[in-house]
Amino acid sequence: MKSFMIQGAKIIATGSAIPSFKLSNNDISKIVQTSDEWITTRTGIQERRLLTGADQSINDLAVLASKNALDKISMHPSEIDLIILATSSPNDLFGSASKIQFEIGATNAVAFDLTAACSGFVLGLVTAFQFLQTGAYRNTLIIGADVLSKWVDWSDRSTCILFGDAAGAAILQSCPTSNNSILNFQLDTDGKYSNHLSILYQHKSDILPVANVYQGYFKYISMNGKEVYKFAVSQVPLSILKCLRSLRISVKDVDWLLLHQANERILTAVADKLSISKSKIISNLSKYGNTSAASIPLALDEAVKEKKIIHNDIVVIAGFGAGLTWGTVIIRWQDLS
Ligand code: UT7
Repeated sequence: MKSFMIQGAKIIATGSAIPSFKLSNNDISKIVQTSDEWITTRTGIQERRLLTGADQSINDLAVLASKNALDKISMHPSEIDLIILATSSPNDLFGSASKIQFEIGATNAVAFDLTAACSGFVLGLVTAFQFLQTGAYRNTLIIGADVLSKWVDWSDRSTCILFGDAAGAAILQSCPTSNNSILNFQLDTDGKYSNHLSILYQHKSDILPVANVYQGYFKYISMNGKEVYKFAVSQVPLSILKCLRSLRISVKDVDWLLLHQANERILTAVADKLSISKSKIISNLSKYGNTSAASIPLALDEAVKEKKIIHNDIVVIAGFGAGLTWGTVIIRWQDLS
């Protein structure tokens, strides 16, 4: 990140939405050969929420989370200048952000989707920050939403136990640099290992008779869990350390570690590697599983509601996942008042 800064930015509201339907580990053990004991021990997940009903989509969750954030500060949607929807499971391959813009009535906002899997919210936050720093926009809405239950192979016990559906949102507003809350970020990608976690496009055998044109569909989630695990516990601490060092902030000064909620063992291993006390880990994955791009804003919203995160706290946020992509944002939390 360049030290040159025109404007600062701070999160002025958060919101979230979860489907009402709960699927417990015991429920899953009726679908595939697994057990509550295995899932809890290996992942920390106890239950997850799934979007049910043919008339419900990711848009409903994203709209609810956005309205939830707007309502908290009584902000009129027309004040939003930019909406970024971080998702890998949009309802429309051309993008779902514009539908959310319409449904919440953010008539003045430009809206687009951003695809970076479980790092999506971090990348969305950093992207929005750029528009605020330059002074181009004042209010941005970043939504992380995923409904991976639609893309999971429910006969594959190594993946179907992990994922849940949710949406989380944050409103990031520009402010004087003296109040800047987004202290630094570090983003990385290594496409060499993209095959470790993917929802791949697959050709069908039919081709257009007049040309060599294929059409196809998207396959289910495929994941090499062991490799993704190793990547997360090795790269995420490095990313966080690099970010902290450039700010000359000691790990001792970190108040909260808010990681992508993939696996309790990953959260603990990253904290251990950084010598950060386990009491500083924000974790809600036992209730929701891995909600991909939604996991960080959902956990952030809960932690703010529960008044865990308070004024001036240093919050280390880090996402990681398919791509492979990973990224850290360090925030000094600021209360509204
Ligand atoms: O959001 C993107 C980021 N994603 C992640 O961070 C996921 C990272 N990876 C993980 O969290 C873990 O690798 C998993 C939770 C996915 C798997 O845990 P693991 O400790 O790495 O298990 P494993 O894949 O090495 O499997 C160990 C054993 C295998 O049996 P054998 O070959 O040792 O006989 C699996 O077949 O556990 C078996 N197994 C299961 N058993 C009961 C795999 N899934 C299950 C299951 N229930 N659901």
